Order: sequence, then C-alpha cells, then structure tokens
Amino acid sequence: MITPEQIQSNWDKFLGFIDTYISGERGEKLKQFYLRHEERFVMMPASHKSQYHNCFPGGYIDHVNRVVEAALKIDAVWREFEMVDTYTTEELVFSALNHDLGKFGDEQNASYIEQTDQWRRDKLNETYMFNDRLEYMTVPDRGLYLLMTNGIEYTKNEFLAIRTHDGLYEEANKAYLMGFTPETKPRTSIMFVVHQADLLAARVEFEKEWLPKLLGEKKVEEKKQTNNFKLNKNNSAVKQKALKTMVNPALAELMKNIW
Ligand SMILES: [Fe+2]
Repeated sequence: MITPEQIQSNWDKFLGFIDTYISGERGEKLKQFYLRHEERFVMMPASHKSQYHNCFPGGYIDHVNRVVEAALKIDAVWREFEMVDTYTTEELVFSALNHDLGKFGDEQNASYIEQTDQWRRDKLNETYMFNDRLEYMTVPDRGLYLLMTNGIEYTKNEFLAIRTHDGLYEEANKAYLMGFTPETKPRTSIMFVVHQADLLAARVEFEKEWLPKLLGEKKVEEKKQTNNFKLNKNNSAVKQKALKTMVNPALAELMKNIW
C-alpha cells in the first residue's frame, strides 16, 4: 500500500514524464487524455489480484513510473554495450508510459472494479474483480486501441514495444521475438528494453509485498542489512577507479548506486 501523499507525488511525476519526454502536439494530446480520466488513473491498481503486483489504490501509476525509470537506466546499460541506435528516448518513454494502458478499460468501464462477492473478499482477500462488462481484449491491444481512438499517434517502434512488452511470457509474442532467421528477428531492441524494465518493476513490486510474508519480516530485514554491509565495504578505491573508466556518465551513475 502507498500513502495519499505518495499517490499525489506519483501522479505529478507521471505528468512530468509526459512534459519532459513527449514532444509537441502529441505530448499535449497524451497529457489531456490522462487528465480527462485523472480520478480513475490516480486510484487504479496495477492488477486485480493481490497474488500479482501492486494490487492497491495508486498501484498502477506507481508501477508505470517505475517502468519508465527502469527503462531509462536499462537503456543506458544496453548503450554501454554498444547496442545499435534504432529508437529515440521519446519512443522509449512513450512505450513505457503506455505499456499497460489497456488495464484502464474503456471510457465507460474500468477493468478492475470492487469485488462484490463477500466470500471472496474475506477468504481470498480479493479487493478487486475483473469488470465483465468489458469485451475481451489483451492489455496491449486495448492500450493501442485507446491511443488510436484518442487520436494519439504512435510510431512502429512504439507499437512493437507496447505490443510485446510481456516478452515470452505471452505465447503470441513468439512470432515477434523468436525469429530464427536474421530477416525475421526484431530490427530494434526497444522491445527488449521495455520488457526488461517491466519485468524488473513487477518483480520488485512482488518482492516488496510477498517476501516479508513468505520469508518473514525478520529474514528480509537481515538480508537488507547484509547487503548494506557489502555496499559499504565495496565503497573503495577500486570502485572509484572502475567508475572513472566508464565512458557513459548515465551508466557510471547507475553503477555507483549498484556497487
Ligand atoms: Fe507493466
């Protein structure tokens, strides 16, 4: 769960990403779309089952912001390893911002609504349920459809990144991601960067919620302390020297916090 203050600051951060990275008229249209549905977006969970991730009010924007931040950092790592430049930062942030937009539902019906079955609330701890007034569509397809019907254009890279953001967890993505000849392999790595960012964010959100329950609060706290000890110990001349050798300042900043 997150506090009302966090929900508000997450929303400001989300709008800030649009202002900073999405240019021109398209940026304005995207911002207006989100502002028109502000109440729904601000309170949306990222999923409707607590077994998944960020299943609480404000969980959706919290998740999306994490994916945007992770995408920018993962992009820096790929560039450090000489990934060919096949997409722009605007395309990367646009894809991350809208990768899960299909979870919104449509203009009239939210995808996730309050669980009305008291037994499921009590026994299964379910706060939300899927709204069956909505016709079935996959999350990526509904997201792309929403962008299209709101007059928000997207590039081919953005289409591919949003469409395949679940990576190989989604059977249907095999056709895009498992080409066995050079001609059928993706011609951009944006799809892998967005997928890795989403995977990282969802995993971290799962860990925060479930590891204390599965391992016990005490064990998780002990692991954190051991990790902090290692970080302090490694704050050495060797680390400083290694950081200086990195040509990419964004990667050096990232590794400074990781080592
Ligand atoms: Fe996601």
